[in-house]
Amino acid sequence: LYIGVDLGTSSVKLLLMDEAGDIKSIVTREYPLYFPKPGWSEQNPEDWYTALVDGIKELTKDCDKSQIEGISFSGQMHGMVILDENDNVIRPAILWNDGRTQEECDYLNIEIGREKISSYTANMALTGFTAPKILWVKKHEPDNFAKIKKVMLPKDYIAYKLSGVHCTDVSDASGMLLFDVKNKRWSKEMLDICGLKEEQMAKVFESFQVVGNMNGQAAKDLGLSENVKVIAGGGDQAVASVGTGVVGEGKCNVSLGTSGVVFISTENFAVDDQNALHAFCHANGKYHFMGVMLSAAASNKWWMDEIIGTKEYAKEQKDITELGENNVYFLPYLMGERTPHNNPNARGTFIGMTMDTTRADMTQAVLEGVAFALRDSFEITKSLGVNIERIRINGGGAKSPLWCKIIANVLNVKVDKINSEEGPAFGAAILACVGCGKYNSVEEATTKLIKVIDTTEQDAAIVDKYNKKYDVFKQLYPSLKEMFD
Ligand code: XUL
Repeated sequence: LYIGVDLGTSSVKLLLMDEAGDIKSIVTREYPLYFPKPGWSEQNPEDWYTALVDGIKELTKDCDKSQIEGISFSGQMHGMVILDENDNVIRPAILWNDGRTQEECDYLNIEIGREKISSYTANMALTGFTAPKILWVKKHEPDNFAKIKKVMLPKDYIAYKLSGVHCTDVSDASGMLLFDVKNKRWSKEMLDICGLKEEQMAKVFESFQVVGNMNGQAAKDLGLSENVKVIAGGGDQAVASVGTGVVGEGKCNVSLGTSGVVFISTENFAVDDQNALHAFCHANGKYHFMGVMLSAAASNKWWMDEIIGTKEYAKEQKDITELGENNVYFLPYLMGERTPHNNPNARGTFIGMTMDTTRADMTQAVLEGVAFALRDSFEITKSLGVNIERIRINGGGAKSPLWCKIIANVLNVKVDKINSEEGPAFGAAILACVGCGKYNSVEEATTKLIKVIDTTEQDAAIVDKYNKKYDVFKQLYPSLKEMFD
């Protein structure tokens, strides 16, 4: 048996699976997210571990624990976890969707220069990435900076608690802006810029490699054996793509989680010359591109929970039938935006209401606004000559057939549904299987375990209507930009 851990932003999801891919149980535990100032976003790493311990006990309560061979992870990316000399957490983790580091990003992209930073790391500085957070702590919290013994990423903190090894993997390390993605090693130049030494960084593994065995304390905490292998795991987008079988040249996964992602798997390393897309290592030993919007399912959750005040999302969507006819537009920039605007100050906006606008029109506008924002990344991919005709889709938002249909038509692609909806947690369990030697490679495991069970096709007439709407959507951000700044 194998455990897949999906360490998300609002909760940790744990999945128990056998080597044939049969899911035995799933458990979720939530933890708090703190917004100490507008645009800031933090979490306590200890809360992750407490939730994990509690959840794993529940997950494994009815199984033969001696059968558990391995555990691996999918982690929310980019978050900065800093440990002192006793391996205690120095301050709350600063998360991927925290926008406080614009000044540090300007320093890196403008003063040092985007091209230089990209030549070291294959990427440009973005507020969510880890290196600008390190610079922020260095400037604003010098006492904390002086205490740093290790810089970790969220899931790596958990892997450390379980194995006692300060480890990371290539896919998650890629999002730190401290990693030379092409050569898969820490960038000496970037470490120098941030005032860090290589010994302050974790040891780097491929996502499917064994980091070590479970240590005594963790085994005791979890009621598991010390023979359980801890496998490095990866950043959530790479692992979700393993979980949907998106490995191999030109395959594409769209994720509708808190964030929204267009992920393209590639066999070889490449960077686009504007750094419009992230160029990262994949969890199968290869590479990938991706465009990331910050509030995807989070926009719908905000609209439903906070504004409409309902948990019945499907009921709210049931009257939406006319696609391509809505005159209301929504810009989903509730936490600022990453791809393509790279502007933490961008804000959510509704445009185009009239006296006959209904609540359903606004709900539809939210779903469509997220689809249009995903199309922004899709257009960049197309401009790189990558032609995508079908995608797979995962994340909470993918449970909505309406949203899948909107996405198929806005992106003009076929949307394949596969035999598991558990993207990242499933992908993590697959990595654990591969790490324990049950499959020879991630490709072999995904080919055997993942099947397409249904396809949502686009409709030419709706695609046409959405093309026209997208032309309007594209003009909205540039015309509002000044107001956000
Ligand atoms: C990827 C990204 C998000 C977070 C949270 O670059 O920022 O996917 O990992 O899910």
